[in-house]
Amino acid sequence: MRCPAILLTVALATLLAPGAGAPVHRQGSRHKLLLVSFDGFRWNYDQDVDTPNLDAMARDGVKARYMTPAFVTMTSPCHFTLVTGKYIENHGVVHNMYYSTTSKVKLPYHATLGVQRWWDNGSVPIWITAQRQGLKTGSFFYPGGNVTYQGVAVTRSRKEGVLHNYKNETEWRANVDTVMAWFTEEDLDLVTLYFGEPDSTGHKYGPESRERKEMVQQVDRTVGYLRERIAHSHLTDSLNLIVTSDHGMTTVNKRAGDLVEFHKFPNFTFQDIEFELLDYGPNGMLLPKDGRLEKVYNALKDAHPKLHVYKQEEFPEAFHYANNPRITPLLMYSDLGYVIHGRVNVQFNNGEHGFDNNDMDMKTIFRAVGPSFQVGLEVEPFESIHVYELMCQLLGIVPEANDGHPGALRPMLRTESALLPDGGSALLPDGGSALLPSSQPLLMMGLLGTMILLSEVA
Ligand SMILES: *[C@@H]1O[C@H](CO)[C@@H](O)[C@H](O)[C@H]1NC(C)=O
Ligand SMILES: *[C@@H]1O[C@H](CO)[C@@H](O)[C@H](O)[C@H]1NC(C)=O
Ligand SMILES: *[C@@H]1O[C@H](CO)[C@@H](O)[C@H](O)[C@H]1NC(C)=O
Ligand SMILES: *[C@@H]1O[C@H](CO)[C@@H](O)[C@H](O)[C@H]1NC(C)=O
Ligand SMILES: [Zn+2]
Repeated sequence: MRCPAILLTVALATLLAPGAGAPVHRQGSRHKLLLVSFDGFRWNYDQDVDTPNLDAMARDGVKARYMTPAFVTMTSPCHFTLVTGKYIENHGVVHNMYYSTTSKVKLPYHATLGVQRWWDNGSVPIWITAQRQGLKTGSFFYPGGNVTYQGVAVTRSRKEGVLHNYKNETEWRANVDTVMAWFTEEDLDLVTLYFGEPDSTGHKYGPESRERKEMVQQVDRTVGYLRERIAHSHLTDSLNLIVTSDHGMTTVNKRAGDLVEFHKFPNFTFQDIEFELLDYGPNGMLLPKDGRLEKVYNALKDAHPKLHVYKQEEFPEAFHYANNPRITPLLMYSDLGYVIHGRVNVQFNNGEHGFDNNDMDMKTIFRAVGPSFQVGLEVEPFESIHVYELMCQLLGIVPEANDGHPGALRPMLRTESALLPDGGSALLPDGGSALLPSSQPLLMMGLLGTMILLSEVA
């Protein structure tokens, strides 16, 4: 009984995906695109809180069961993956903090937002690609959107102040209004809009707290406000809206009897270390002094059962993280719930991210609605590297080289033409789809699709 089901979904996925490179069906002028990120929105945050507006968006559009972020599950690296389609080792924004192992400079998240050479490291994000192809773009607080790439700035860019209050709902609405004006008065084609919640609240109070649940309701009200403003601006039929995030959140095991504390490891001494980046959740990087790599590695590799220390070249390839010149000779991560303490314990968050992207608590959301998206479709999980190709298709622009697959998210799209395949081309998209639609109505369509497919083949 497994075979027919698989055939069905494969047939459906193929039918919904037009041939690679074929333009997305669009009527009249080009559709606009708004990418919204609510930082640290774990995939299941809508399951213990009433979220009427997110629910309505799912009914009207597409919802992924969850999305798998890139590793390392940190804000700037994951946001840059969304706008480049590259794994983190391939775009080079490997940390929230700018650092240099030679000058020993380390800058916090906000300061790093303004360090052009940290971001402009050989990859061209979607704003710049779209502008080179004649489009106008904007970035509102989106990480990486306030520097120049190969000398080019985003058409309209806003950066938050250093002491920004990330949870002011009044300001959120004003920001939504500004973005709507960018679309209607300045005719921008693509805008990325960032909110720093529910990440901040998740860090401070923990992901299972009442405060986090209240913040998710604030996010939900904002999604409602956003869609209302889209309708009010007469953009419902001409703007595609994606609501997503960078990573999830998990509870920090603060009172565990087995905390990961470097200052308690026997045979390890900071005197062997030239440069360190520790005390940043579950992630750490070390550059040992000349000739001391083996000594440090041997002292650390079995130092703690929750700590996984690797030489750069031995870091698991599946993470697509360590193969970048910015990565130090030793790097590490700890198990879910454990953070890495360095010289002294200075981490007091109740919630944290940065963990293995296979941990369910690190998974995040993906929702989309608009003229190009199917209605009421729930799709199976996919990796965040694919969102970039989807956005390029929605905007009708030629993408840069990237790690995503052009066909992966096509089944999300309303492709009237694909349901009536012209000859064989639409039946065999190169590489197929990463998605297996999972909703009941789609199963019905799948049956229909299979019949069409069978009659085509016959
Ligand atoms: C990327 O950054 C590294 C330093 O972090 C630098 O050595 C390298 O030249 C940069 N590459 C590009 C293409 O900007
Ligand atoms: C950064 O944002 C500010 C507004 O917040 C804007 O004036 C400036 O032009 C932006 N810079 C770049 C390079 O985008
Ligand atoms: C929230 O934002 C509004 C609009 O920017 C501002 O007038 C108000 O003072 C802010 N409130 C707080 C508590 O920061
Ligand atoms: C520390 O080093 C000594 C001497 O090499 C060794 O006997 C001991 O097992 C090491 N301890 C740990 C915890 O690795
Ligand atoms: Zn984040």
